[in-house]
Order: sequence, then structure tokens, then C-alpha cells
Amino acid sequence: MTLFDTTLRDGEQTPGVSFTVDQKVEIARQLAATGIGTIEAGFPASSAEEREAVQAVARAVDSARICGLARMRRDDVDACTACGVGMIHVFVPTSDIQREYTIKKSRQEVLDATAEVVAYAREQVPHVLFSAMDATRTDRDYLAEVCRAAVDAGATTVNIPDTVGVMTPTAMKELIAWAVKEVKAPIDVHCHNDFGLAVANTLAAVEAGAAQVQVTVNGMGERAGNADLAQTAMALEAIYGIETGVVSNRLLETSRLVSRYAGISIPPGQPVVGENAFSHESGIHAHGIIEHPDTFEPGIMTPEMVGHRRRLKLGKHAGRHAVRQMLADVHMQPDDAALDQILAKMKAIASRGRRITDADLYAIAEEVMGMAGVTPAVGLRDIAVFTGTHSMPTASVSLIVDGAEKVGCSTGNGPVDAAMKAILRCLDEPVHLKEFAVESISGGTDAIGHVTITVEDRAGHIFDASASSDDIVIASVDAMINAINLLQRVQGAKTGE
Ligand code: KIV
Ligand code: ZN
Repeated sequence: MTLFDTTLRDGEQTPGVSFTVDQKVEIARQLAATGIGTIEAGFPASSAEEREAVQAVARAVDSARICGLARMRRDDVDACTACGVGMIHVFVPTSDIQREYTIKKSRQEVLDATAEVVAYAREQVPHVLFSAMDATRTDRDYLAEVCRAAVDAGATTVNIPDTVGVMTPTAMKELIAWAVKEVKAPIDVHCHNDFGLAVANTLAAVEAGAAQVQVTVNGMGERAGNADLAQTAMALEAIYGIETGVVSNRLLETSRLVSRYAGISIPPGQPVVGENAFSHESGIHAHGIIEHPDTFEPGIMTPEMVGHRRRLKLGKHAGRHAVRQMLADVHMQPDDAALDQILAKMKAIASRGRRITDADLYAIAEEVMGMAGVTPAVGLRDIAVFTGTHSMPTASVSLIVDGAEKVGCSTGNGPVDAAMKAILRCLDEPVHLKEFAVESISGGTDAIGHVTITVEDRAGHIFDASASSDDIVIASVDAMINAINLLQRVQGAKTGE
């Protein structure tokens, strides 16, 4: 089973998304490192920039096959060939609705063009993928005819796209079983997610004998997107026991890289890669997880397998076991009465609808256990930020770290980015900023900004903390310092022990 990733082509068709050439190259390298067999890098005929990007990807990546998209036209094929790709993906609408209203060609004209252009493409490259666009709404006899024409002309793989996502798993299984028998080439599928069934339909196609599946990172793509790479690959590997070649522990970083470059955040509940995919809040679940992780996780897919982390989360439903465990992680051992008080205070805050960070829990525990007032390991002495229309935002910070002054300077994409980088430069141990979220608590230009930050150290300790201020840079700096102090605490550096 091979994975064909089209993040850089169909994924980039997500409304509002456009990757730079450098971003495409970096994403393609990451996809190759994630074990993707074929990467569709773009649609070369669409623009000079796209040709530059596809060519750059083809030059930069040699461990995966690089593919370019072409309409059923010789000049589109030439544009792909000029980019140095190893596979050309030629497509043509085959359903009556698309054929009549988009390309305005007869069935016979489509058949003739397919025979001619597929043969032409095959003269240029060893691998030609033929797509009968809107196959799932195409008359079955005509679909057989056009696929036969493509294979006779030299297509090495035939794609049956569910272009507008109207299939069900049962219907997909029947169609692909038919195609596997009827078409004398390996069958590929490309499922859109209009009804949220793209992954299910892709898996049904595999059950029916599809040899290749098309996916995108984070399920990006036209309208509701395509079948998601991480979900499809993990379902195939973990549930079906089918090897896909995926390097699963790279899935999370791949998802985050694409999310960053696309400017689309990953929903917390997204399977496999979402922040909550391996997080547990309710007392019953967290207790089970502490006893044995398989109680409330699939077991056949662990967080480590996909490069993720298991986390116990605080909230209205949190229980004694989770809170005791989280405090023990930072060397705090409240007795039963203190634990009751900590839980009660925490739940009172949570029931007002506020997210509770790790820093909130430790602040409550310190207060209840009479440890408040202990000087934290890291404190802010001063910060200055400079920003303007003709200069890079620059920040310089002065921190007190374990009693000694440390000064750090950095430029950044904005004042907050510069300030975060300047803080991290003051630390001896590297700290990775995993997440940054900002919300406005009140309206207007004097609004209070509430910043929540998640950090991770080299040992894999993860903590979140938040802070509020009418100055967004100060809120970010305070949240960052609060989070760093938790890392210092777990590293046993100072306070609270
Ligand atoms: O959705 C679709 O049919 C496509 C084709 C180009 C394969 O993206
Ligand atoms: Zn598509």
C-alpha cells in the first residue's frame, strides 16, 4: 500500500492558503522523511511561480517520487516535464455534469484526448497517473471505457476520485471492487470530505483492493478537504495491520509544520495530532490512565507512536488521582485535607468556564500548602521592545535567573515573537515554545489580552501557563516566565522543595 500526498497541490487549494517555494520544499522534505511514497508538488501549468516550486521540490527530494498535475493537454504535460518530475498526473472530468459544463467536450472527445495525452505523457516519464475526475458520479460503462483508454495508452495507475465527496463506505467498496476487476492497472483513490467520510471511504477502498490512497496533511483541500494523512495512515497501520511506509512518529511534527505554513490551526480534538488526542481530564479517565494507559486509549496507537505526548488535563471534571500525580511531578505532596482544598478551589475556577493551566494548579497548591511567597527561579527585571515600519521588531530582556542577571536580545516576526526569543536566549537549558494562544478579554483598543503558553524542555516535560495584561507583550512575557518557572521546578532547580 502506498501513500500519495497531495498537500502541496489539492491541499494548497484550501481557500486562503498559498505556500512559498521555500515552504513547499521544506514540507516536501518533511513528507519524504515521514515515509510518503509519492508527493504531488503542484500544478506546473498554473503559473511560473508554481513551475519554480515544483522544480525546486523535484531537485530537493530524491527519497520520494515527485509528481506534477496536468490537465488533458500536451502543453500541461510539457510544463510538468520541464520541472523534472518522475510522475505526471493527468486528469479529465468524466461525469456528464462536469464534462458538459466545465470542458464542454463530448464523451468521444474526452476518450480521444485521453488516449493521445496519456500516451504523450508516458513518452516523457516512467509513471503516469490517470484521474477520471468525478468518477463517483460517472456513468459506469463510460468510466470503464475511459479508464481502458488511459491504460491502453500507458497509464501506470488509475485514480477513481470522489471529487465532491458523495460516496459512502459501502458504495465506495462496491465501486473499487468493480474497478480492480475491470481496470488493468493499480487503482488509486482520492476522497473528498464533504460529508466527513473521506477517511472512511478511503479505508473502504483499501478493503476493496485499492493499491494507493491520496491524502493531505491535516485533511486540507478544496471545500471540506481530503482524506487526512495521519488518520488514514494510522488506521491502515494500527487497525488494519497494513504497511504504508509511514514513519509514524513524524506525523505530529509534519502536521504542525503544515499548520504553521498554512496559517490554519489544528482543532484540539483532531484525531491523532490534535492537542487533546491523548489528553485526559475526567477523574475516571485520568485514574484509569494512571493505572494503565490502555484503559482509555486505543493501545494499538500510543502517543509515542505518532510523536505525541499523553497529558492529564485540569478542569471541572479532574479527579484526585490526576491532581495528586501532577503535583507529585513537581515534588509537591499535599496531605488528603490539602488535596481536597486544592480540588475544591480548582473546580470553583473551572466551573466559571475558565481554562486551568498547570501554573494555576501550582499557584493554588502553594497557597493551600502555605508555600506562597517563595521567590520563583526566574523573574523579569526589565523588557524593552522596539518596532516600526522600516525595522525588524527587536526585544531586549533582563531576567533574574537563580539570583543572577541574564540579558538576552532578539529580533522576531513581531514584538511578541522577538520578546519570546529574547527570553529563551537567557536560559542555559533549551526550552521549546509549543503553543501560543491569545484571546481578548474585553473589546476596544485598551482590551485586556489573555495569553496561554505551552512549553517543553529537552526531557519532554510539558507545562502550560497564562497571564493577562492590557499590554500583549507583557502578558506574553509573564505567561512565558510562569511556564519556565514550572520547568525549573520540575528540574528540581529551586523553589518549593
Ligand atoms: O478532486 C479531484 O477530483 C481532483 C483531481 C485532480 C484528482 O483533485
Ligand atoms: Zn481533489
